[in-house]
This record gives sequence, C-alpha cells and structure tokens, in this order.
Amino acid sequence: MIIGNRKKWVKYKKTRNRIIIISVLLLVIAVIIAVLAAVIHSFGANTPSNSTETTGETTTEAVTQATTQPAAEEKFSEKKLAHNNNNSAGYETKEKAEKGYKIFYPVTGSEHIDSRIMKDVAYFKSLVSQLNTPYQGVDYSAFISNKLLLSLVYEIQGYNDKGDVVSADYFTRVFKLNGGEELGQNDIFKDNFFEHASKKSREFFSKNDSTKQWTEQENYLNATSASPANYDRFAFDDSGCILYFDSKTIFEKPGTLYSVAFSYDEIYDMLKIEKDGSKKHPKNDNKNNLPLYIPKQGDIDLAKPMVALTYDDGPSSIHTPEILDVLEKHNARATFFVTGTNAKNNPDILKRQVNSGCQIGNHTMWHSNLTKQSESDMLKDVNDLSAIIENAAGAKVTLVRPPYGAFDDTVKRVLNQYALMLWNVDTMDWSSRDKNAIVKEVMENTSDGAIILLHDIHKETAQATKEFVPKLIEKGYQLVTIDELYYYRDKTLAGGNVYG
Ligand code: NI
Repeated sequence: MIIGNRKKWVKYKKTRNRIIIISVLLLVIAVIIAVLAAVIHSFGANTPSNSTETTGETTTEAVTQATTQPAAEEKFSEKKLAHNNNNSAGYETKEKAEKGYKIFYPVTGSEHIDSRIMKDVAYFKSLVSQLNTPYQGVDYSAFISNKLLLSLVYEIQGYNDKGDVVSADYFTRVFKLNGGEELGQNDIFKDNFFEHASKKSREFFSKNDSTKQWTEQENYLNATSASPANYDRFAFDDSGCILYFDSKTIFEKPGTLYSVAFSYDEIYDMLKIEKDGSKKHPKNDNKNNLPLYIPKQGDIDLAKPMVALTYDDGPSSIHTPEILDVLEKHNARATFFVTGTNAKNNPDILKRQVNSGCQIGNHTMWHSNLTKQSESDMLKDVNDLSAIIENAAGAKVTLVRPPYGAFDDTVKRVLNQYALMLWNVDTMDWSSRDKNAIVKEVMENTSDGAIILLHDIHKETAQATKEFVPKLIEKGYQLVTIDELYYYRDKTLAGGNVYG
C-alpha cells in the first residue's frame, strides 16, 4: 500500500514538476514576445516611411506620414511622442509638454538664437491649442551648413485618438551661427529664385504618384506660383537649400509634408548670400571689375563706420615697422602704396604687411608723373613694380595711386587692369612734419568711408599713427583696407576707373 502509494506519489510529483517547468517556460516566452511587441511598436510610431526621387540636379523627397497602429488596449496620447534624434545637429533637446501636446526644441548655447527659439516655442504652444485634434506634437530638425549657417525645421502635427497624423505643417528659421543673426527670405533669395522654385516644385509634384492627380487644381497652381510667399519655409544643409510644403496649403488635403531640395551649384546665382551666410558682393556687372581681397572675413560690424588709412612712398625700413606695430596691436589694417626702390629693398616688410591683413598698392617704380610718360613706359613702370610686390608678398596688386594725383584719359586706358585710387582726406604730413598737426588733421577730417593720405617714410607720421589709431577706434571707427572699404559698402572697383 505504502509502496504503491509512494509510486503514485512519485509519478504525481514528476508530472507536477513538468507542469511547473513548462508553465515557467511559457511565461518567459510570453514576456519576451510582449517586450518585442512594445519595442517594434515604439519604432513604428516614430518612423515615417520616406520615398526619395532624384531628378537631374534637383533631389526631391516626399515625406509620407506614418500611420501608426497602436495595440487596441493602448490608447494613443502625446506621451508616446518622441524626438527623432537623427537630426539634432548635436544639440541638447528639451521638451515642453502638457496634457494633449508635446513640443521638442534644441538648446544651441547661443543666447540670441535660444531666445528666438523660446519665443517660437511659446508660439507653437498657442498654435497647437487651436488645432482641432486630440493630440499635438512639434518636433524639430537642425541642420548646420558649412559650419556657419543653422537651419531649424519644425514639424507641427495633430494626431487623432489612434495616433494617426491628421494635420501637418512646417515652420523654419535660418540663423548665422556667428552672432546669431537671423536670415530671412529677403536676405537670402534673389527674385529669380522664385521662378526656379516654382518650376522645380511643380516638376516634383507632377512626377510624384501620390500627388500628380491634383496638379491641375486652381489652388495648387496658386500655391506653387512664383510668388515668394509660397516659398517661405526653407533650410540649408551642406548640399544646398531645401524648400518645405504641406499638403493642406497646396492640395487642401491636410496631413502630409513634402520637401524639395536644390543644390548650391544649381541656385548659387539666385542667392544673395555665400554658402557661409555672408552677404555676396553685388554681381559683377562690369567685366573690368577687380577682385576684392578680404583678409579677415567676418570681423567687421557693418553698422559701424569704416575708414581706410593709406600710406605712400614706403616702405621705410624704420618707420613702416613702427606703423605696423601700432596697426597689429589694435587689429587695424591699412593700405600701403609702395614705390620701386623701397619695395625692392624691403621684401620682408611687404610680407609682413600682407600677413597682418594690410593691402599693398602700386605707387610706380620711380614715383613718376604718369601723364608725362609714353604709354609703353607707363605700363612697364607699373607692371614691373607689381611683379616685385607679388614676388615678395604673394599679393596680387589691383590698385595704383598715381604720384602727385596726376592722371588723364591715356593713363586710365593704359592702366585698365588697375583701379586708380586717390584719397579724400589729405593730412599734409609731408609738409607739416608735425605729429600734433597730423593727429589733428586726421581726427578733424575723418568721417565714415574716408580714405586718408599719409606717408610712412616720415618719423612724425609714425608717431602720429601711434596716437590717432586708438583715438579713431575709440570713436567707433573700424580701420580697414581699400578693398574692404569697397567690399563692405557693396561697391565695386573697376579697372581704369578713378576713385577717392
Ligand atoms: Ni608719393
């Protein structure tokens, strides 16, 4: 009995153990499946399905919104919205969330840009409260183009109870990273850009299978016409410009976002800015326009006055280095119009002038009166000196200051590879040879845009320079070269023309 019962008991115990082991295994498998399902779902909810087409130079991209399918027992809410970290440009992402909405935004560390972002976040907050959807989300992408331009692209989306995107819009801003200045449509695009934008975006929508059936509608034709208002959402990355569109504006059907990309090569002539966001020099409309050399791009404040100091007849082995000491100490630049023998004897000073951002002009080989020379002598005189300067300092010479300010139509015609640069403030330093008188002349006669005539072969001029340079800077003047003066005032210098 006992034995029999014991056998039964052992058999029962074995069976029970098996059941327990199988149950535990089933439980573990169920947990793994549940975890996997949750992971797959959270991925699917935030991954839009993209389709990209490339047409010639223009890359066009349609972004179709994901239709999310949360498990039946999981109700969608703004809590499920996550930032897409792929496009943060390395910035820290913060979020502002309350019941019904979540807004993601970057922290850039630039006071100016971050204050703009916080104003936009406040705007988004009021915007999402007006959407007739149960849940709203704002996410951002940040692009940095050529290390200097920051573009922020916000996607503003409304979701239904199931988490489907039912409304979608874009909002963009472009900033210069250096200083945080915002660049608007009018700062960036020339008028001819909008014709091109219209043509290329219509090409995109008529080739896209999901949109081509709507491209006859009047609303579409208006919303893709060459009007600047149709292209006010844009960003820049390293390859070029991207324009953004929403389906509500274009097709009166909400919920889908589109982008059309343009390469820099394709649209360069339609932009008012260089790739780094700096203002482009006005398009050369004169084939004689000379290249302007800008040694220290970006350290000039366009709102502040500028003045060009010019020193003639050097270099002097004694006084020119004294003047350069002062200029370098104050991060100031000047233009030196050198003569032949002095240039030949002081190649290291020419090199130093260029290295410190200064410009070198040509004051003729022998300080000759150009109007009294034959055409061939005149050309040889000037070109020989330019070759000496270029060999010594590696700087191309584009300016000639005619000795005694003497020129005529022949000089202008023969020297048409150079701009003839005179002056508008004469300090008379060569005549007074008086430090105080020179300082007084400079301080009393200087105004924004002045080109000041001095001579770096005189001791008193070097002494005066030491005094008036800090005084000019204290009065707000930026001391620039001739090329910089013309460049930053959006002017050109043309060969054979007379200036100053
Ligand atoms: Ni002279």
